[in-house]
Amino acid sequence: MIMDTINIGLLGLGTVGSGLVEILRQPQPRLAARRLKVTRIAVRTVTPERQAQYPDIALTTNSTSIVTDPNIKVVVEAIGGRTAAKELITTALTFGKHVVTANKDLIATDGAELSQIAAAHHVGLYYEAAVMGAIPVLRTLRNAYAGDPISRITGIANGTSNFILTQMIAHGASYDDALSLAQSKGFAEANPANDVDGLDATYKLLILTRFAFGMSPTIDDVSIQGITTLQPQDFVAASIWGYAIKPLAVSELTPDGLCMRVAPHLVPLAHPLAAVRDENNAVLIDSHNVNRLSMVGPGAGALPTANSIVADLLDLADNIHDGNTPERFVDTDTPAVVADAAHRVSPRFVGIRGDDVTREQLAALGISGRVQRGRGRVTVLTGPVTDSAVAQWRQVLTTVPGLELIHILPVL
Ligand SMILES: NC(=O)c1ccc[n+]([C@@H]2O[C@H](COP(=O)([O-])OP(=O)(O)OC[C@H]3O[C@@H](n4cnc5c(N)ncnc54)[C@H](OP(=O)(O)O)[C@@H]3O)[C@@H](O)[C@H]2O)c1
Repeated sequence: MIMDTINIGLLGLGTVGSGLVEILRQPQPRLAARRLKVTRIAVRTVTPERQAQYPDIALTTNSTSIVTDPNIKVVVEAIGGRTAAKELITTALTFGKHVVTANKDLIATDGAELSQIAAAHHVGLYYEAAVMGAIPVLRTLRNAYAGDPISRITGIANGTSNFILTQMIAHGASYDDALSLAQSKGFAEANPANDVDGLDATYKLLILTRFAFGMSPTIDDVSIQGITTLQPQDFVAASIWGYAIKPLAVSELTPDGLCMRVAPHLVPLAHPLAAVRDENNAVLIDSHNVNRLSMVGPGAGALPTANSIVADLLDLADNIHDGNTPERFVDTDTPAVVADAAHRVSPRFVGIRGDDVTREQLAALGISGRVQRGRGRVTVLTGPVTDSAVAQWRQVLTTVPGLELIHILPVL
């Protein structure tokens, strides 16, 4: 039986959009069988030279004309940002089009609302590419864990941060030098704030949490710490105690509720995530039946990210050809229960600037554990401590003359 062609309208022809066009142009029999065809693309600027590169696709600057086009069956959103993308996706869904997006910012904040609109119009809204690029983590959580209660998801979800920390750990680079290198290699943007301050990883963690635990927490429920305070001395001190420092996003279901952190964590050197280097992403899923599953791979880039978009398109294509309404990507019906600060516990790695901080001074502040000194700072590895106690340390440390808190990092 010859299947009808599925016309795709693509919004955006940057890194991700052009990767998608490249993959769909490749002669892959399984892809060809689904008869997916990009017929129109919206961009900000159309020039004759640009149009000439895509002889069989019509470029336009009018995105709305694509999301309302009766000949388009599926819209792929790859422009990024929240406002315009949300409006376009909402219109596309309302006009009965299936939507695939790589937009983590939008899905993390407005995903629940958009998936309700999709369900109301009996269309699919899929976004595998929004979390960890090429790693098929959302489908894995959706398909393989229906009968297996997950206890914890631990990810290296931001490739920029992982690249920077790898440079600091492996080559003793300063934070500034490692960031410059990341920028020169295209792994960090000119304004890297979203990556290095932890917001990008937080968006991904919110989406992962929905898939793992069926709950929709908000950004305020996540404890967020960036990587900008790290110094080469931290990596030396951590390694003496047998740890690496990795940029982790962790969502754990405890008896007191969800505990979600995005922060540079101390990770035992033998832990699988300690070996994930450079710009790679990784995820560990801890669960009752499987115990532990890990996936490692590129979290960004044109072809890796577009490959996840193609996985979504294949899923949609099978439903369209069979005449089925695509399943909801995720159900999030359980209200989010979040553990309060008094129930979020982990050992800590405390860095304090100050030449002659005594053990007694630390004890008076309630900070105790193994201590290293040198180069104008003291570093302490504590036992398990609650987030409430840590908040108190932060406050008290600002009042002690001669001491300056560098950071307090969680230990896995
Ligand atoms: N880059 C990655 O590796 C990666 C990985 C995972 C997820 N993502 C997500 O994928 C999305 C796209 O990222 P990207 O890196 O591909 O971005 P990008 O390279 O900056 O490309 C954005 C594209 O969107 C077009 N565009 C922007 N605003 C538009 C508008 N209002 N109407 C029509 N076209 C518009 C731009 O047109 P012009 O070309 O004319 O300027 C450009 O082609 C983002 O949500 C991002 O978070 C990216």
